[in-house]
Amino acid sequence: MIGEVIELEVGNFAHGGHCVARIDGRVVFVRHTLPGERIRARVTGSGGGGKFLRADAIEILEASPDRVTPPCSFAGVCGGCDWQHASLTAQRRSKESIVRELLRKSVSTEILESFTVHAVDGDVDGLGWRTRVRFAVDAEGHAGLRLHRSHDVLTIDRCLIAHPAITALDITAEVWPQAREVLAVAPSIGEALARADPRHTGTRVLEKAAGREWKVDFTGFWQVHPGAADALVNVVGDFAQPTKGEHILDLYSGVGLFAGAFAENVGVGGRIDAVEVDAGACANARRNLHDLPFVHLHHADVLEWLRVKATKRADIVILDPPRTGCGPAGVKAIVRLRPRVIVYVACDPAPLARDLAAFAEHGWKVDEIVGLDMFPMTQHLECVVRLTHHESAAVPT
Ligand SMILES: C[S@@+](CC[C@H](N)C(=O)[O-])C[C@H]1O[C@@H](n2cnc3c(N)ncnc32)[C@H](O)[C@@H]1O
Repeated sequence: MIGEVIELEVGNFAHGGHCVARIDGRVVFVRHTLPGERIRARVTGSGGGGKFLRADAIEILEASPDRVTPPCSFAGVCGGCDWQHASLTAQRRSKESIVRELLRKSVSTEILESFTVHAVDGDVDGLGWRTRVRFAVDAEGHAGLRLHRSHDVLTIDRCLIAHPAITALDITAEVWPQAREVLAVAPSIGEALARADPRHTGTRVLEKAAGREWKVDFTGFWQVHPGAADALVNVVGDFAQPTKGEHILDLYSGVGLFAGAFAENVGVGGRIDAVEVDAGACANARRNLHDLPFVHLHHADVLEWLRVKATKRADIVILDPPRTGCGPAGVKAIVRLRPRVIVYVACDPAPLARDLAAFAEHGWKVDEIVGLDMFPMTQHLECVVRLTHHESAAVPT
């Protein structure tokens, strides 16, 4: 079956960047197509013990009105972008419908109907935003990008979603003998730089957000889109409304973005506890927030810290976990603190759906949710969710 060409009527988008179609009673997950299209597709794989197929569109027989000519000549081959063939408006509508479907069971219809995915400030055409690019290097030392679901390297001359300062480094024109990958970073302050096979070398870059400067390890976590950190701070601040004297928990705090951004709101009479597991990020957070004595930094695993150290009530809990979410154990530990409000920042709506269902079991409901298109041309998005406690649902002991 792999390699066979099939004709398909394409249905809706599913989580993962593909659309769903059917053939002979079997589900087909198809890339590079759009809902409503009639296409010819090549089967690229199967899964679920043969229950579903994967395919890639190779000919569009009837095109969707949302289809555009991809700006990049490598679109459709390169694994970096999923949706260059859709207009930005259609990409955002698709992200909205995928999130609505995933959160259907844990969020009210009314809230989901008003769910909107917004462009990040400064984003005009969805290109030139990637300030961190990991180039893969092939056996001959040529840097390129990986093919979809493959270790093979596609050599390219440029990546259109890379930040212009990274493009200017001309990494794909150089040869990188013996390297496995090249990481390029374009910080908001200072020159862009690239390193082959970088480790925690002590190299730092300087970023600007929320009116402050942030030291970040060259290999460390920082929001990739240049407008993302400020966009997140604005939405999280709007949802949390921190005020003087309040106690905030900033869980999965990285180099301290939210702790630093909301420090002035709570003031010296308040307190912020920031919890982060990565030693390099904690060391940078210490440098970034040294002027704020009421911000307490904890180098710890969030679950462990909540279990052992979080004994007092908190007013606001902000959590920004990695893709996997915080899980039901994290949810249980957070609701025990009986905060006024919980703000959940999620980069994958599927684990978010699972965690929101767990919050709902404890009486915590979503009363606001916003999507930020921080990764245009790809299937990814960031959701920010506000949860408050409703009625007298039991808080676990
Ligand atoms: C999505 S980033 C958010 C960072 C920060 N809020 C920001 O916007 O810059 C997630 C962070 O969680 C940290 N992390 C991952 N697992 C963790 C855990 N179990 N406990 C504590 N921190 C963790 C990662 O090192 C990373 O810094």
